[in-house]
Amino acid sequence: MNKQLKIAIIGAGGISRAHTNAFPHFRDRLALAAVCDTNEPAARALAAEYGQNVSVFTDYRWLLSNAKPDAVIITLPHFLHHAVAKDCLAAGVHALVEKPITCTGTELRELNTIARRNNLVLLAGQMRRFGAAVTKVKAWRDASPTNFGELRSFDVVVQVNIDAYTGGKTGHWILDGAKAGGGVIASFGIHRVDLVRHLGGADFAEVTAIGRFDAPFTNRAESQASVLFRMTNGATGTLHANALAPRTPFMDSFCLYGTHGTILEVAGPMRYATTTGAVTKQWGDQHNGFVEATDSTDPKDDAFARQLLAFADAVQFGIIPPFNTPEENFNTIACMDAIAESLRTGGTVKVAKL
Ligand SMILES: NC(=O)c1ccc[n+]([C@@H]2O[C@H](COP(=O)([O-])OP(=O)(O)OC[C@H]3O[C@@H](n4cnc5c(N)ncnc54)[C@H](O)[C@@H]3O)[C@@H](O)[C@H]2O)c1
Repeated sequence: MNKQLKIAIIGAGGISRAHTNAFPHFRDRLALAAVCDTNEPAARALAAEYGQNVSVFTDYRWLLSNAKPDAVIITLPHFLHHAVAKDCLAAGVHALVEKPITCTGTELRELNTIARRNNLVLLAGQMRRFGAAVTKVKAWRDASPTNFGELRSFDVVVQVNIDAYTGGKTGHWILDGAKAGGGVIASFGIHRVDLVRHLGGADFAEVTAIGRFDAPFTNRAESQASVLFRMTNGATGTLHANALAPRTPFMDSFCLYGTHGTILEVAGPMRYATTTGAVTKQWGDQHNGFVEATDSTDPKDDAFARQLLAFADAVQFGIIPPFNTPEENFNTIACMDAIAESLRTGGTVKVAKL
């Protein structure tokens, strides 16, 4: 067993606890060594919750030179991901960066080059891929080519009551396109967009988008968008994301249709069914044959916990996960770029390659 991994967290805001709550499950493998936030009380509060021996910093460069962590988890507003991750990688520190790993494909290319040159692990925090339900569905999909088959079409719907998210504060960074790197899709829709690739088994090839840019969003952050997609295998799909959904509980849902099966997550747990051996021949058959893929109640199986373990495996043992690497994640980020360009120009935009 390698020495215990010293991990620091940069950004002690809303999502930071989902990460730090996972640490105690793996005390023999890793420890939270330091916390950094420009908001010192926030950093102190997070460090105090974890307990012993957690240093507190308000400047991540000081953290890098003084705490000397092996690895960092970056949980900052999106526009800071690239610059902070770049400094961490340049300092020889492995990095797990919350979604979206960067605001643009160009930024991701640069980080990837530095990580490869320095032989460091760089992972995108698309944690939903580590969820137990998603893992089960993916295993079912991959177990046989006649379970799901080839993706043909999909629909994604994301509804966000943004006032509930920001507490009605107009100055929140997530409302500012320059700080969030986009609007509702970059901040919220990205989870489902990324899962379409993961469970559908195809990458994005081109997009056509229309949208609106209503207040409280500023700086060309889309408040809503409707997007048409074409995938590399010819499949087509849609996304409707809307952050101005007053009195609407957060909802993100999707349906994926393959040549042999269907994956649904709409107002309930993820479900899947195959036509193999269970073809719907009667109207009354159509609800039959679905299997529910539920998430585990064991906290060690939480998606953030599994993500943390995968990060530690990569850093300590060189076991690189099959997804969320810069190379694998690039299509998700390039798709965000293409949607932003299509919203700007009104045209169909090809998704860039790494
Ligand atoms: N995986 C998920 O389901 C999920 C959910 C929510 C947020 N996120 C992601 O997590 C990241 C952070 O989101 P959040 O909701 O925690 O945001 P937040 O605004 O609650 O927290 C960000 C923190 O960063 C601090 N900060 C800002 N500039 C800093 C700097 N230069 N140095 C150090 N600290 C600085 C702020 O003071 C704040 O405490 C984003 O990438 C977001 O998309 C992921």
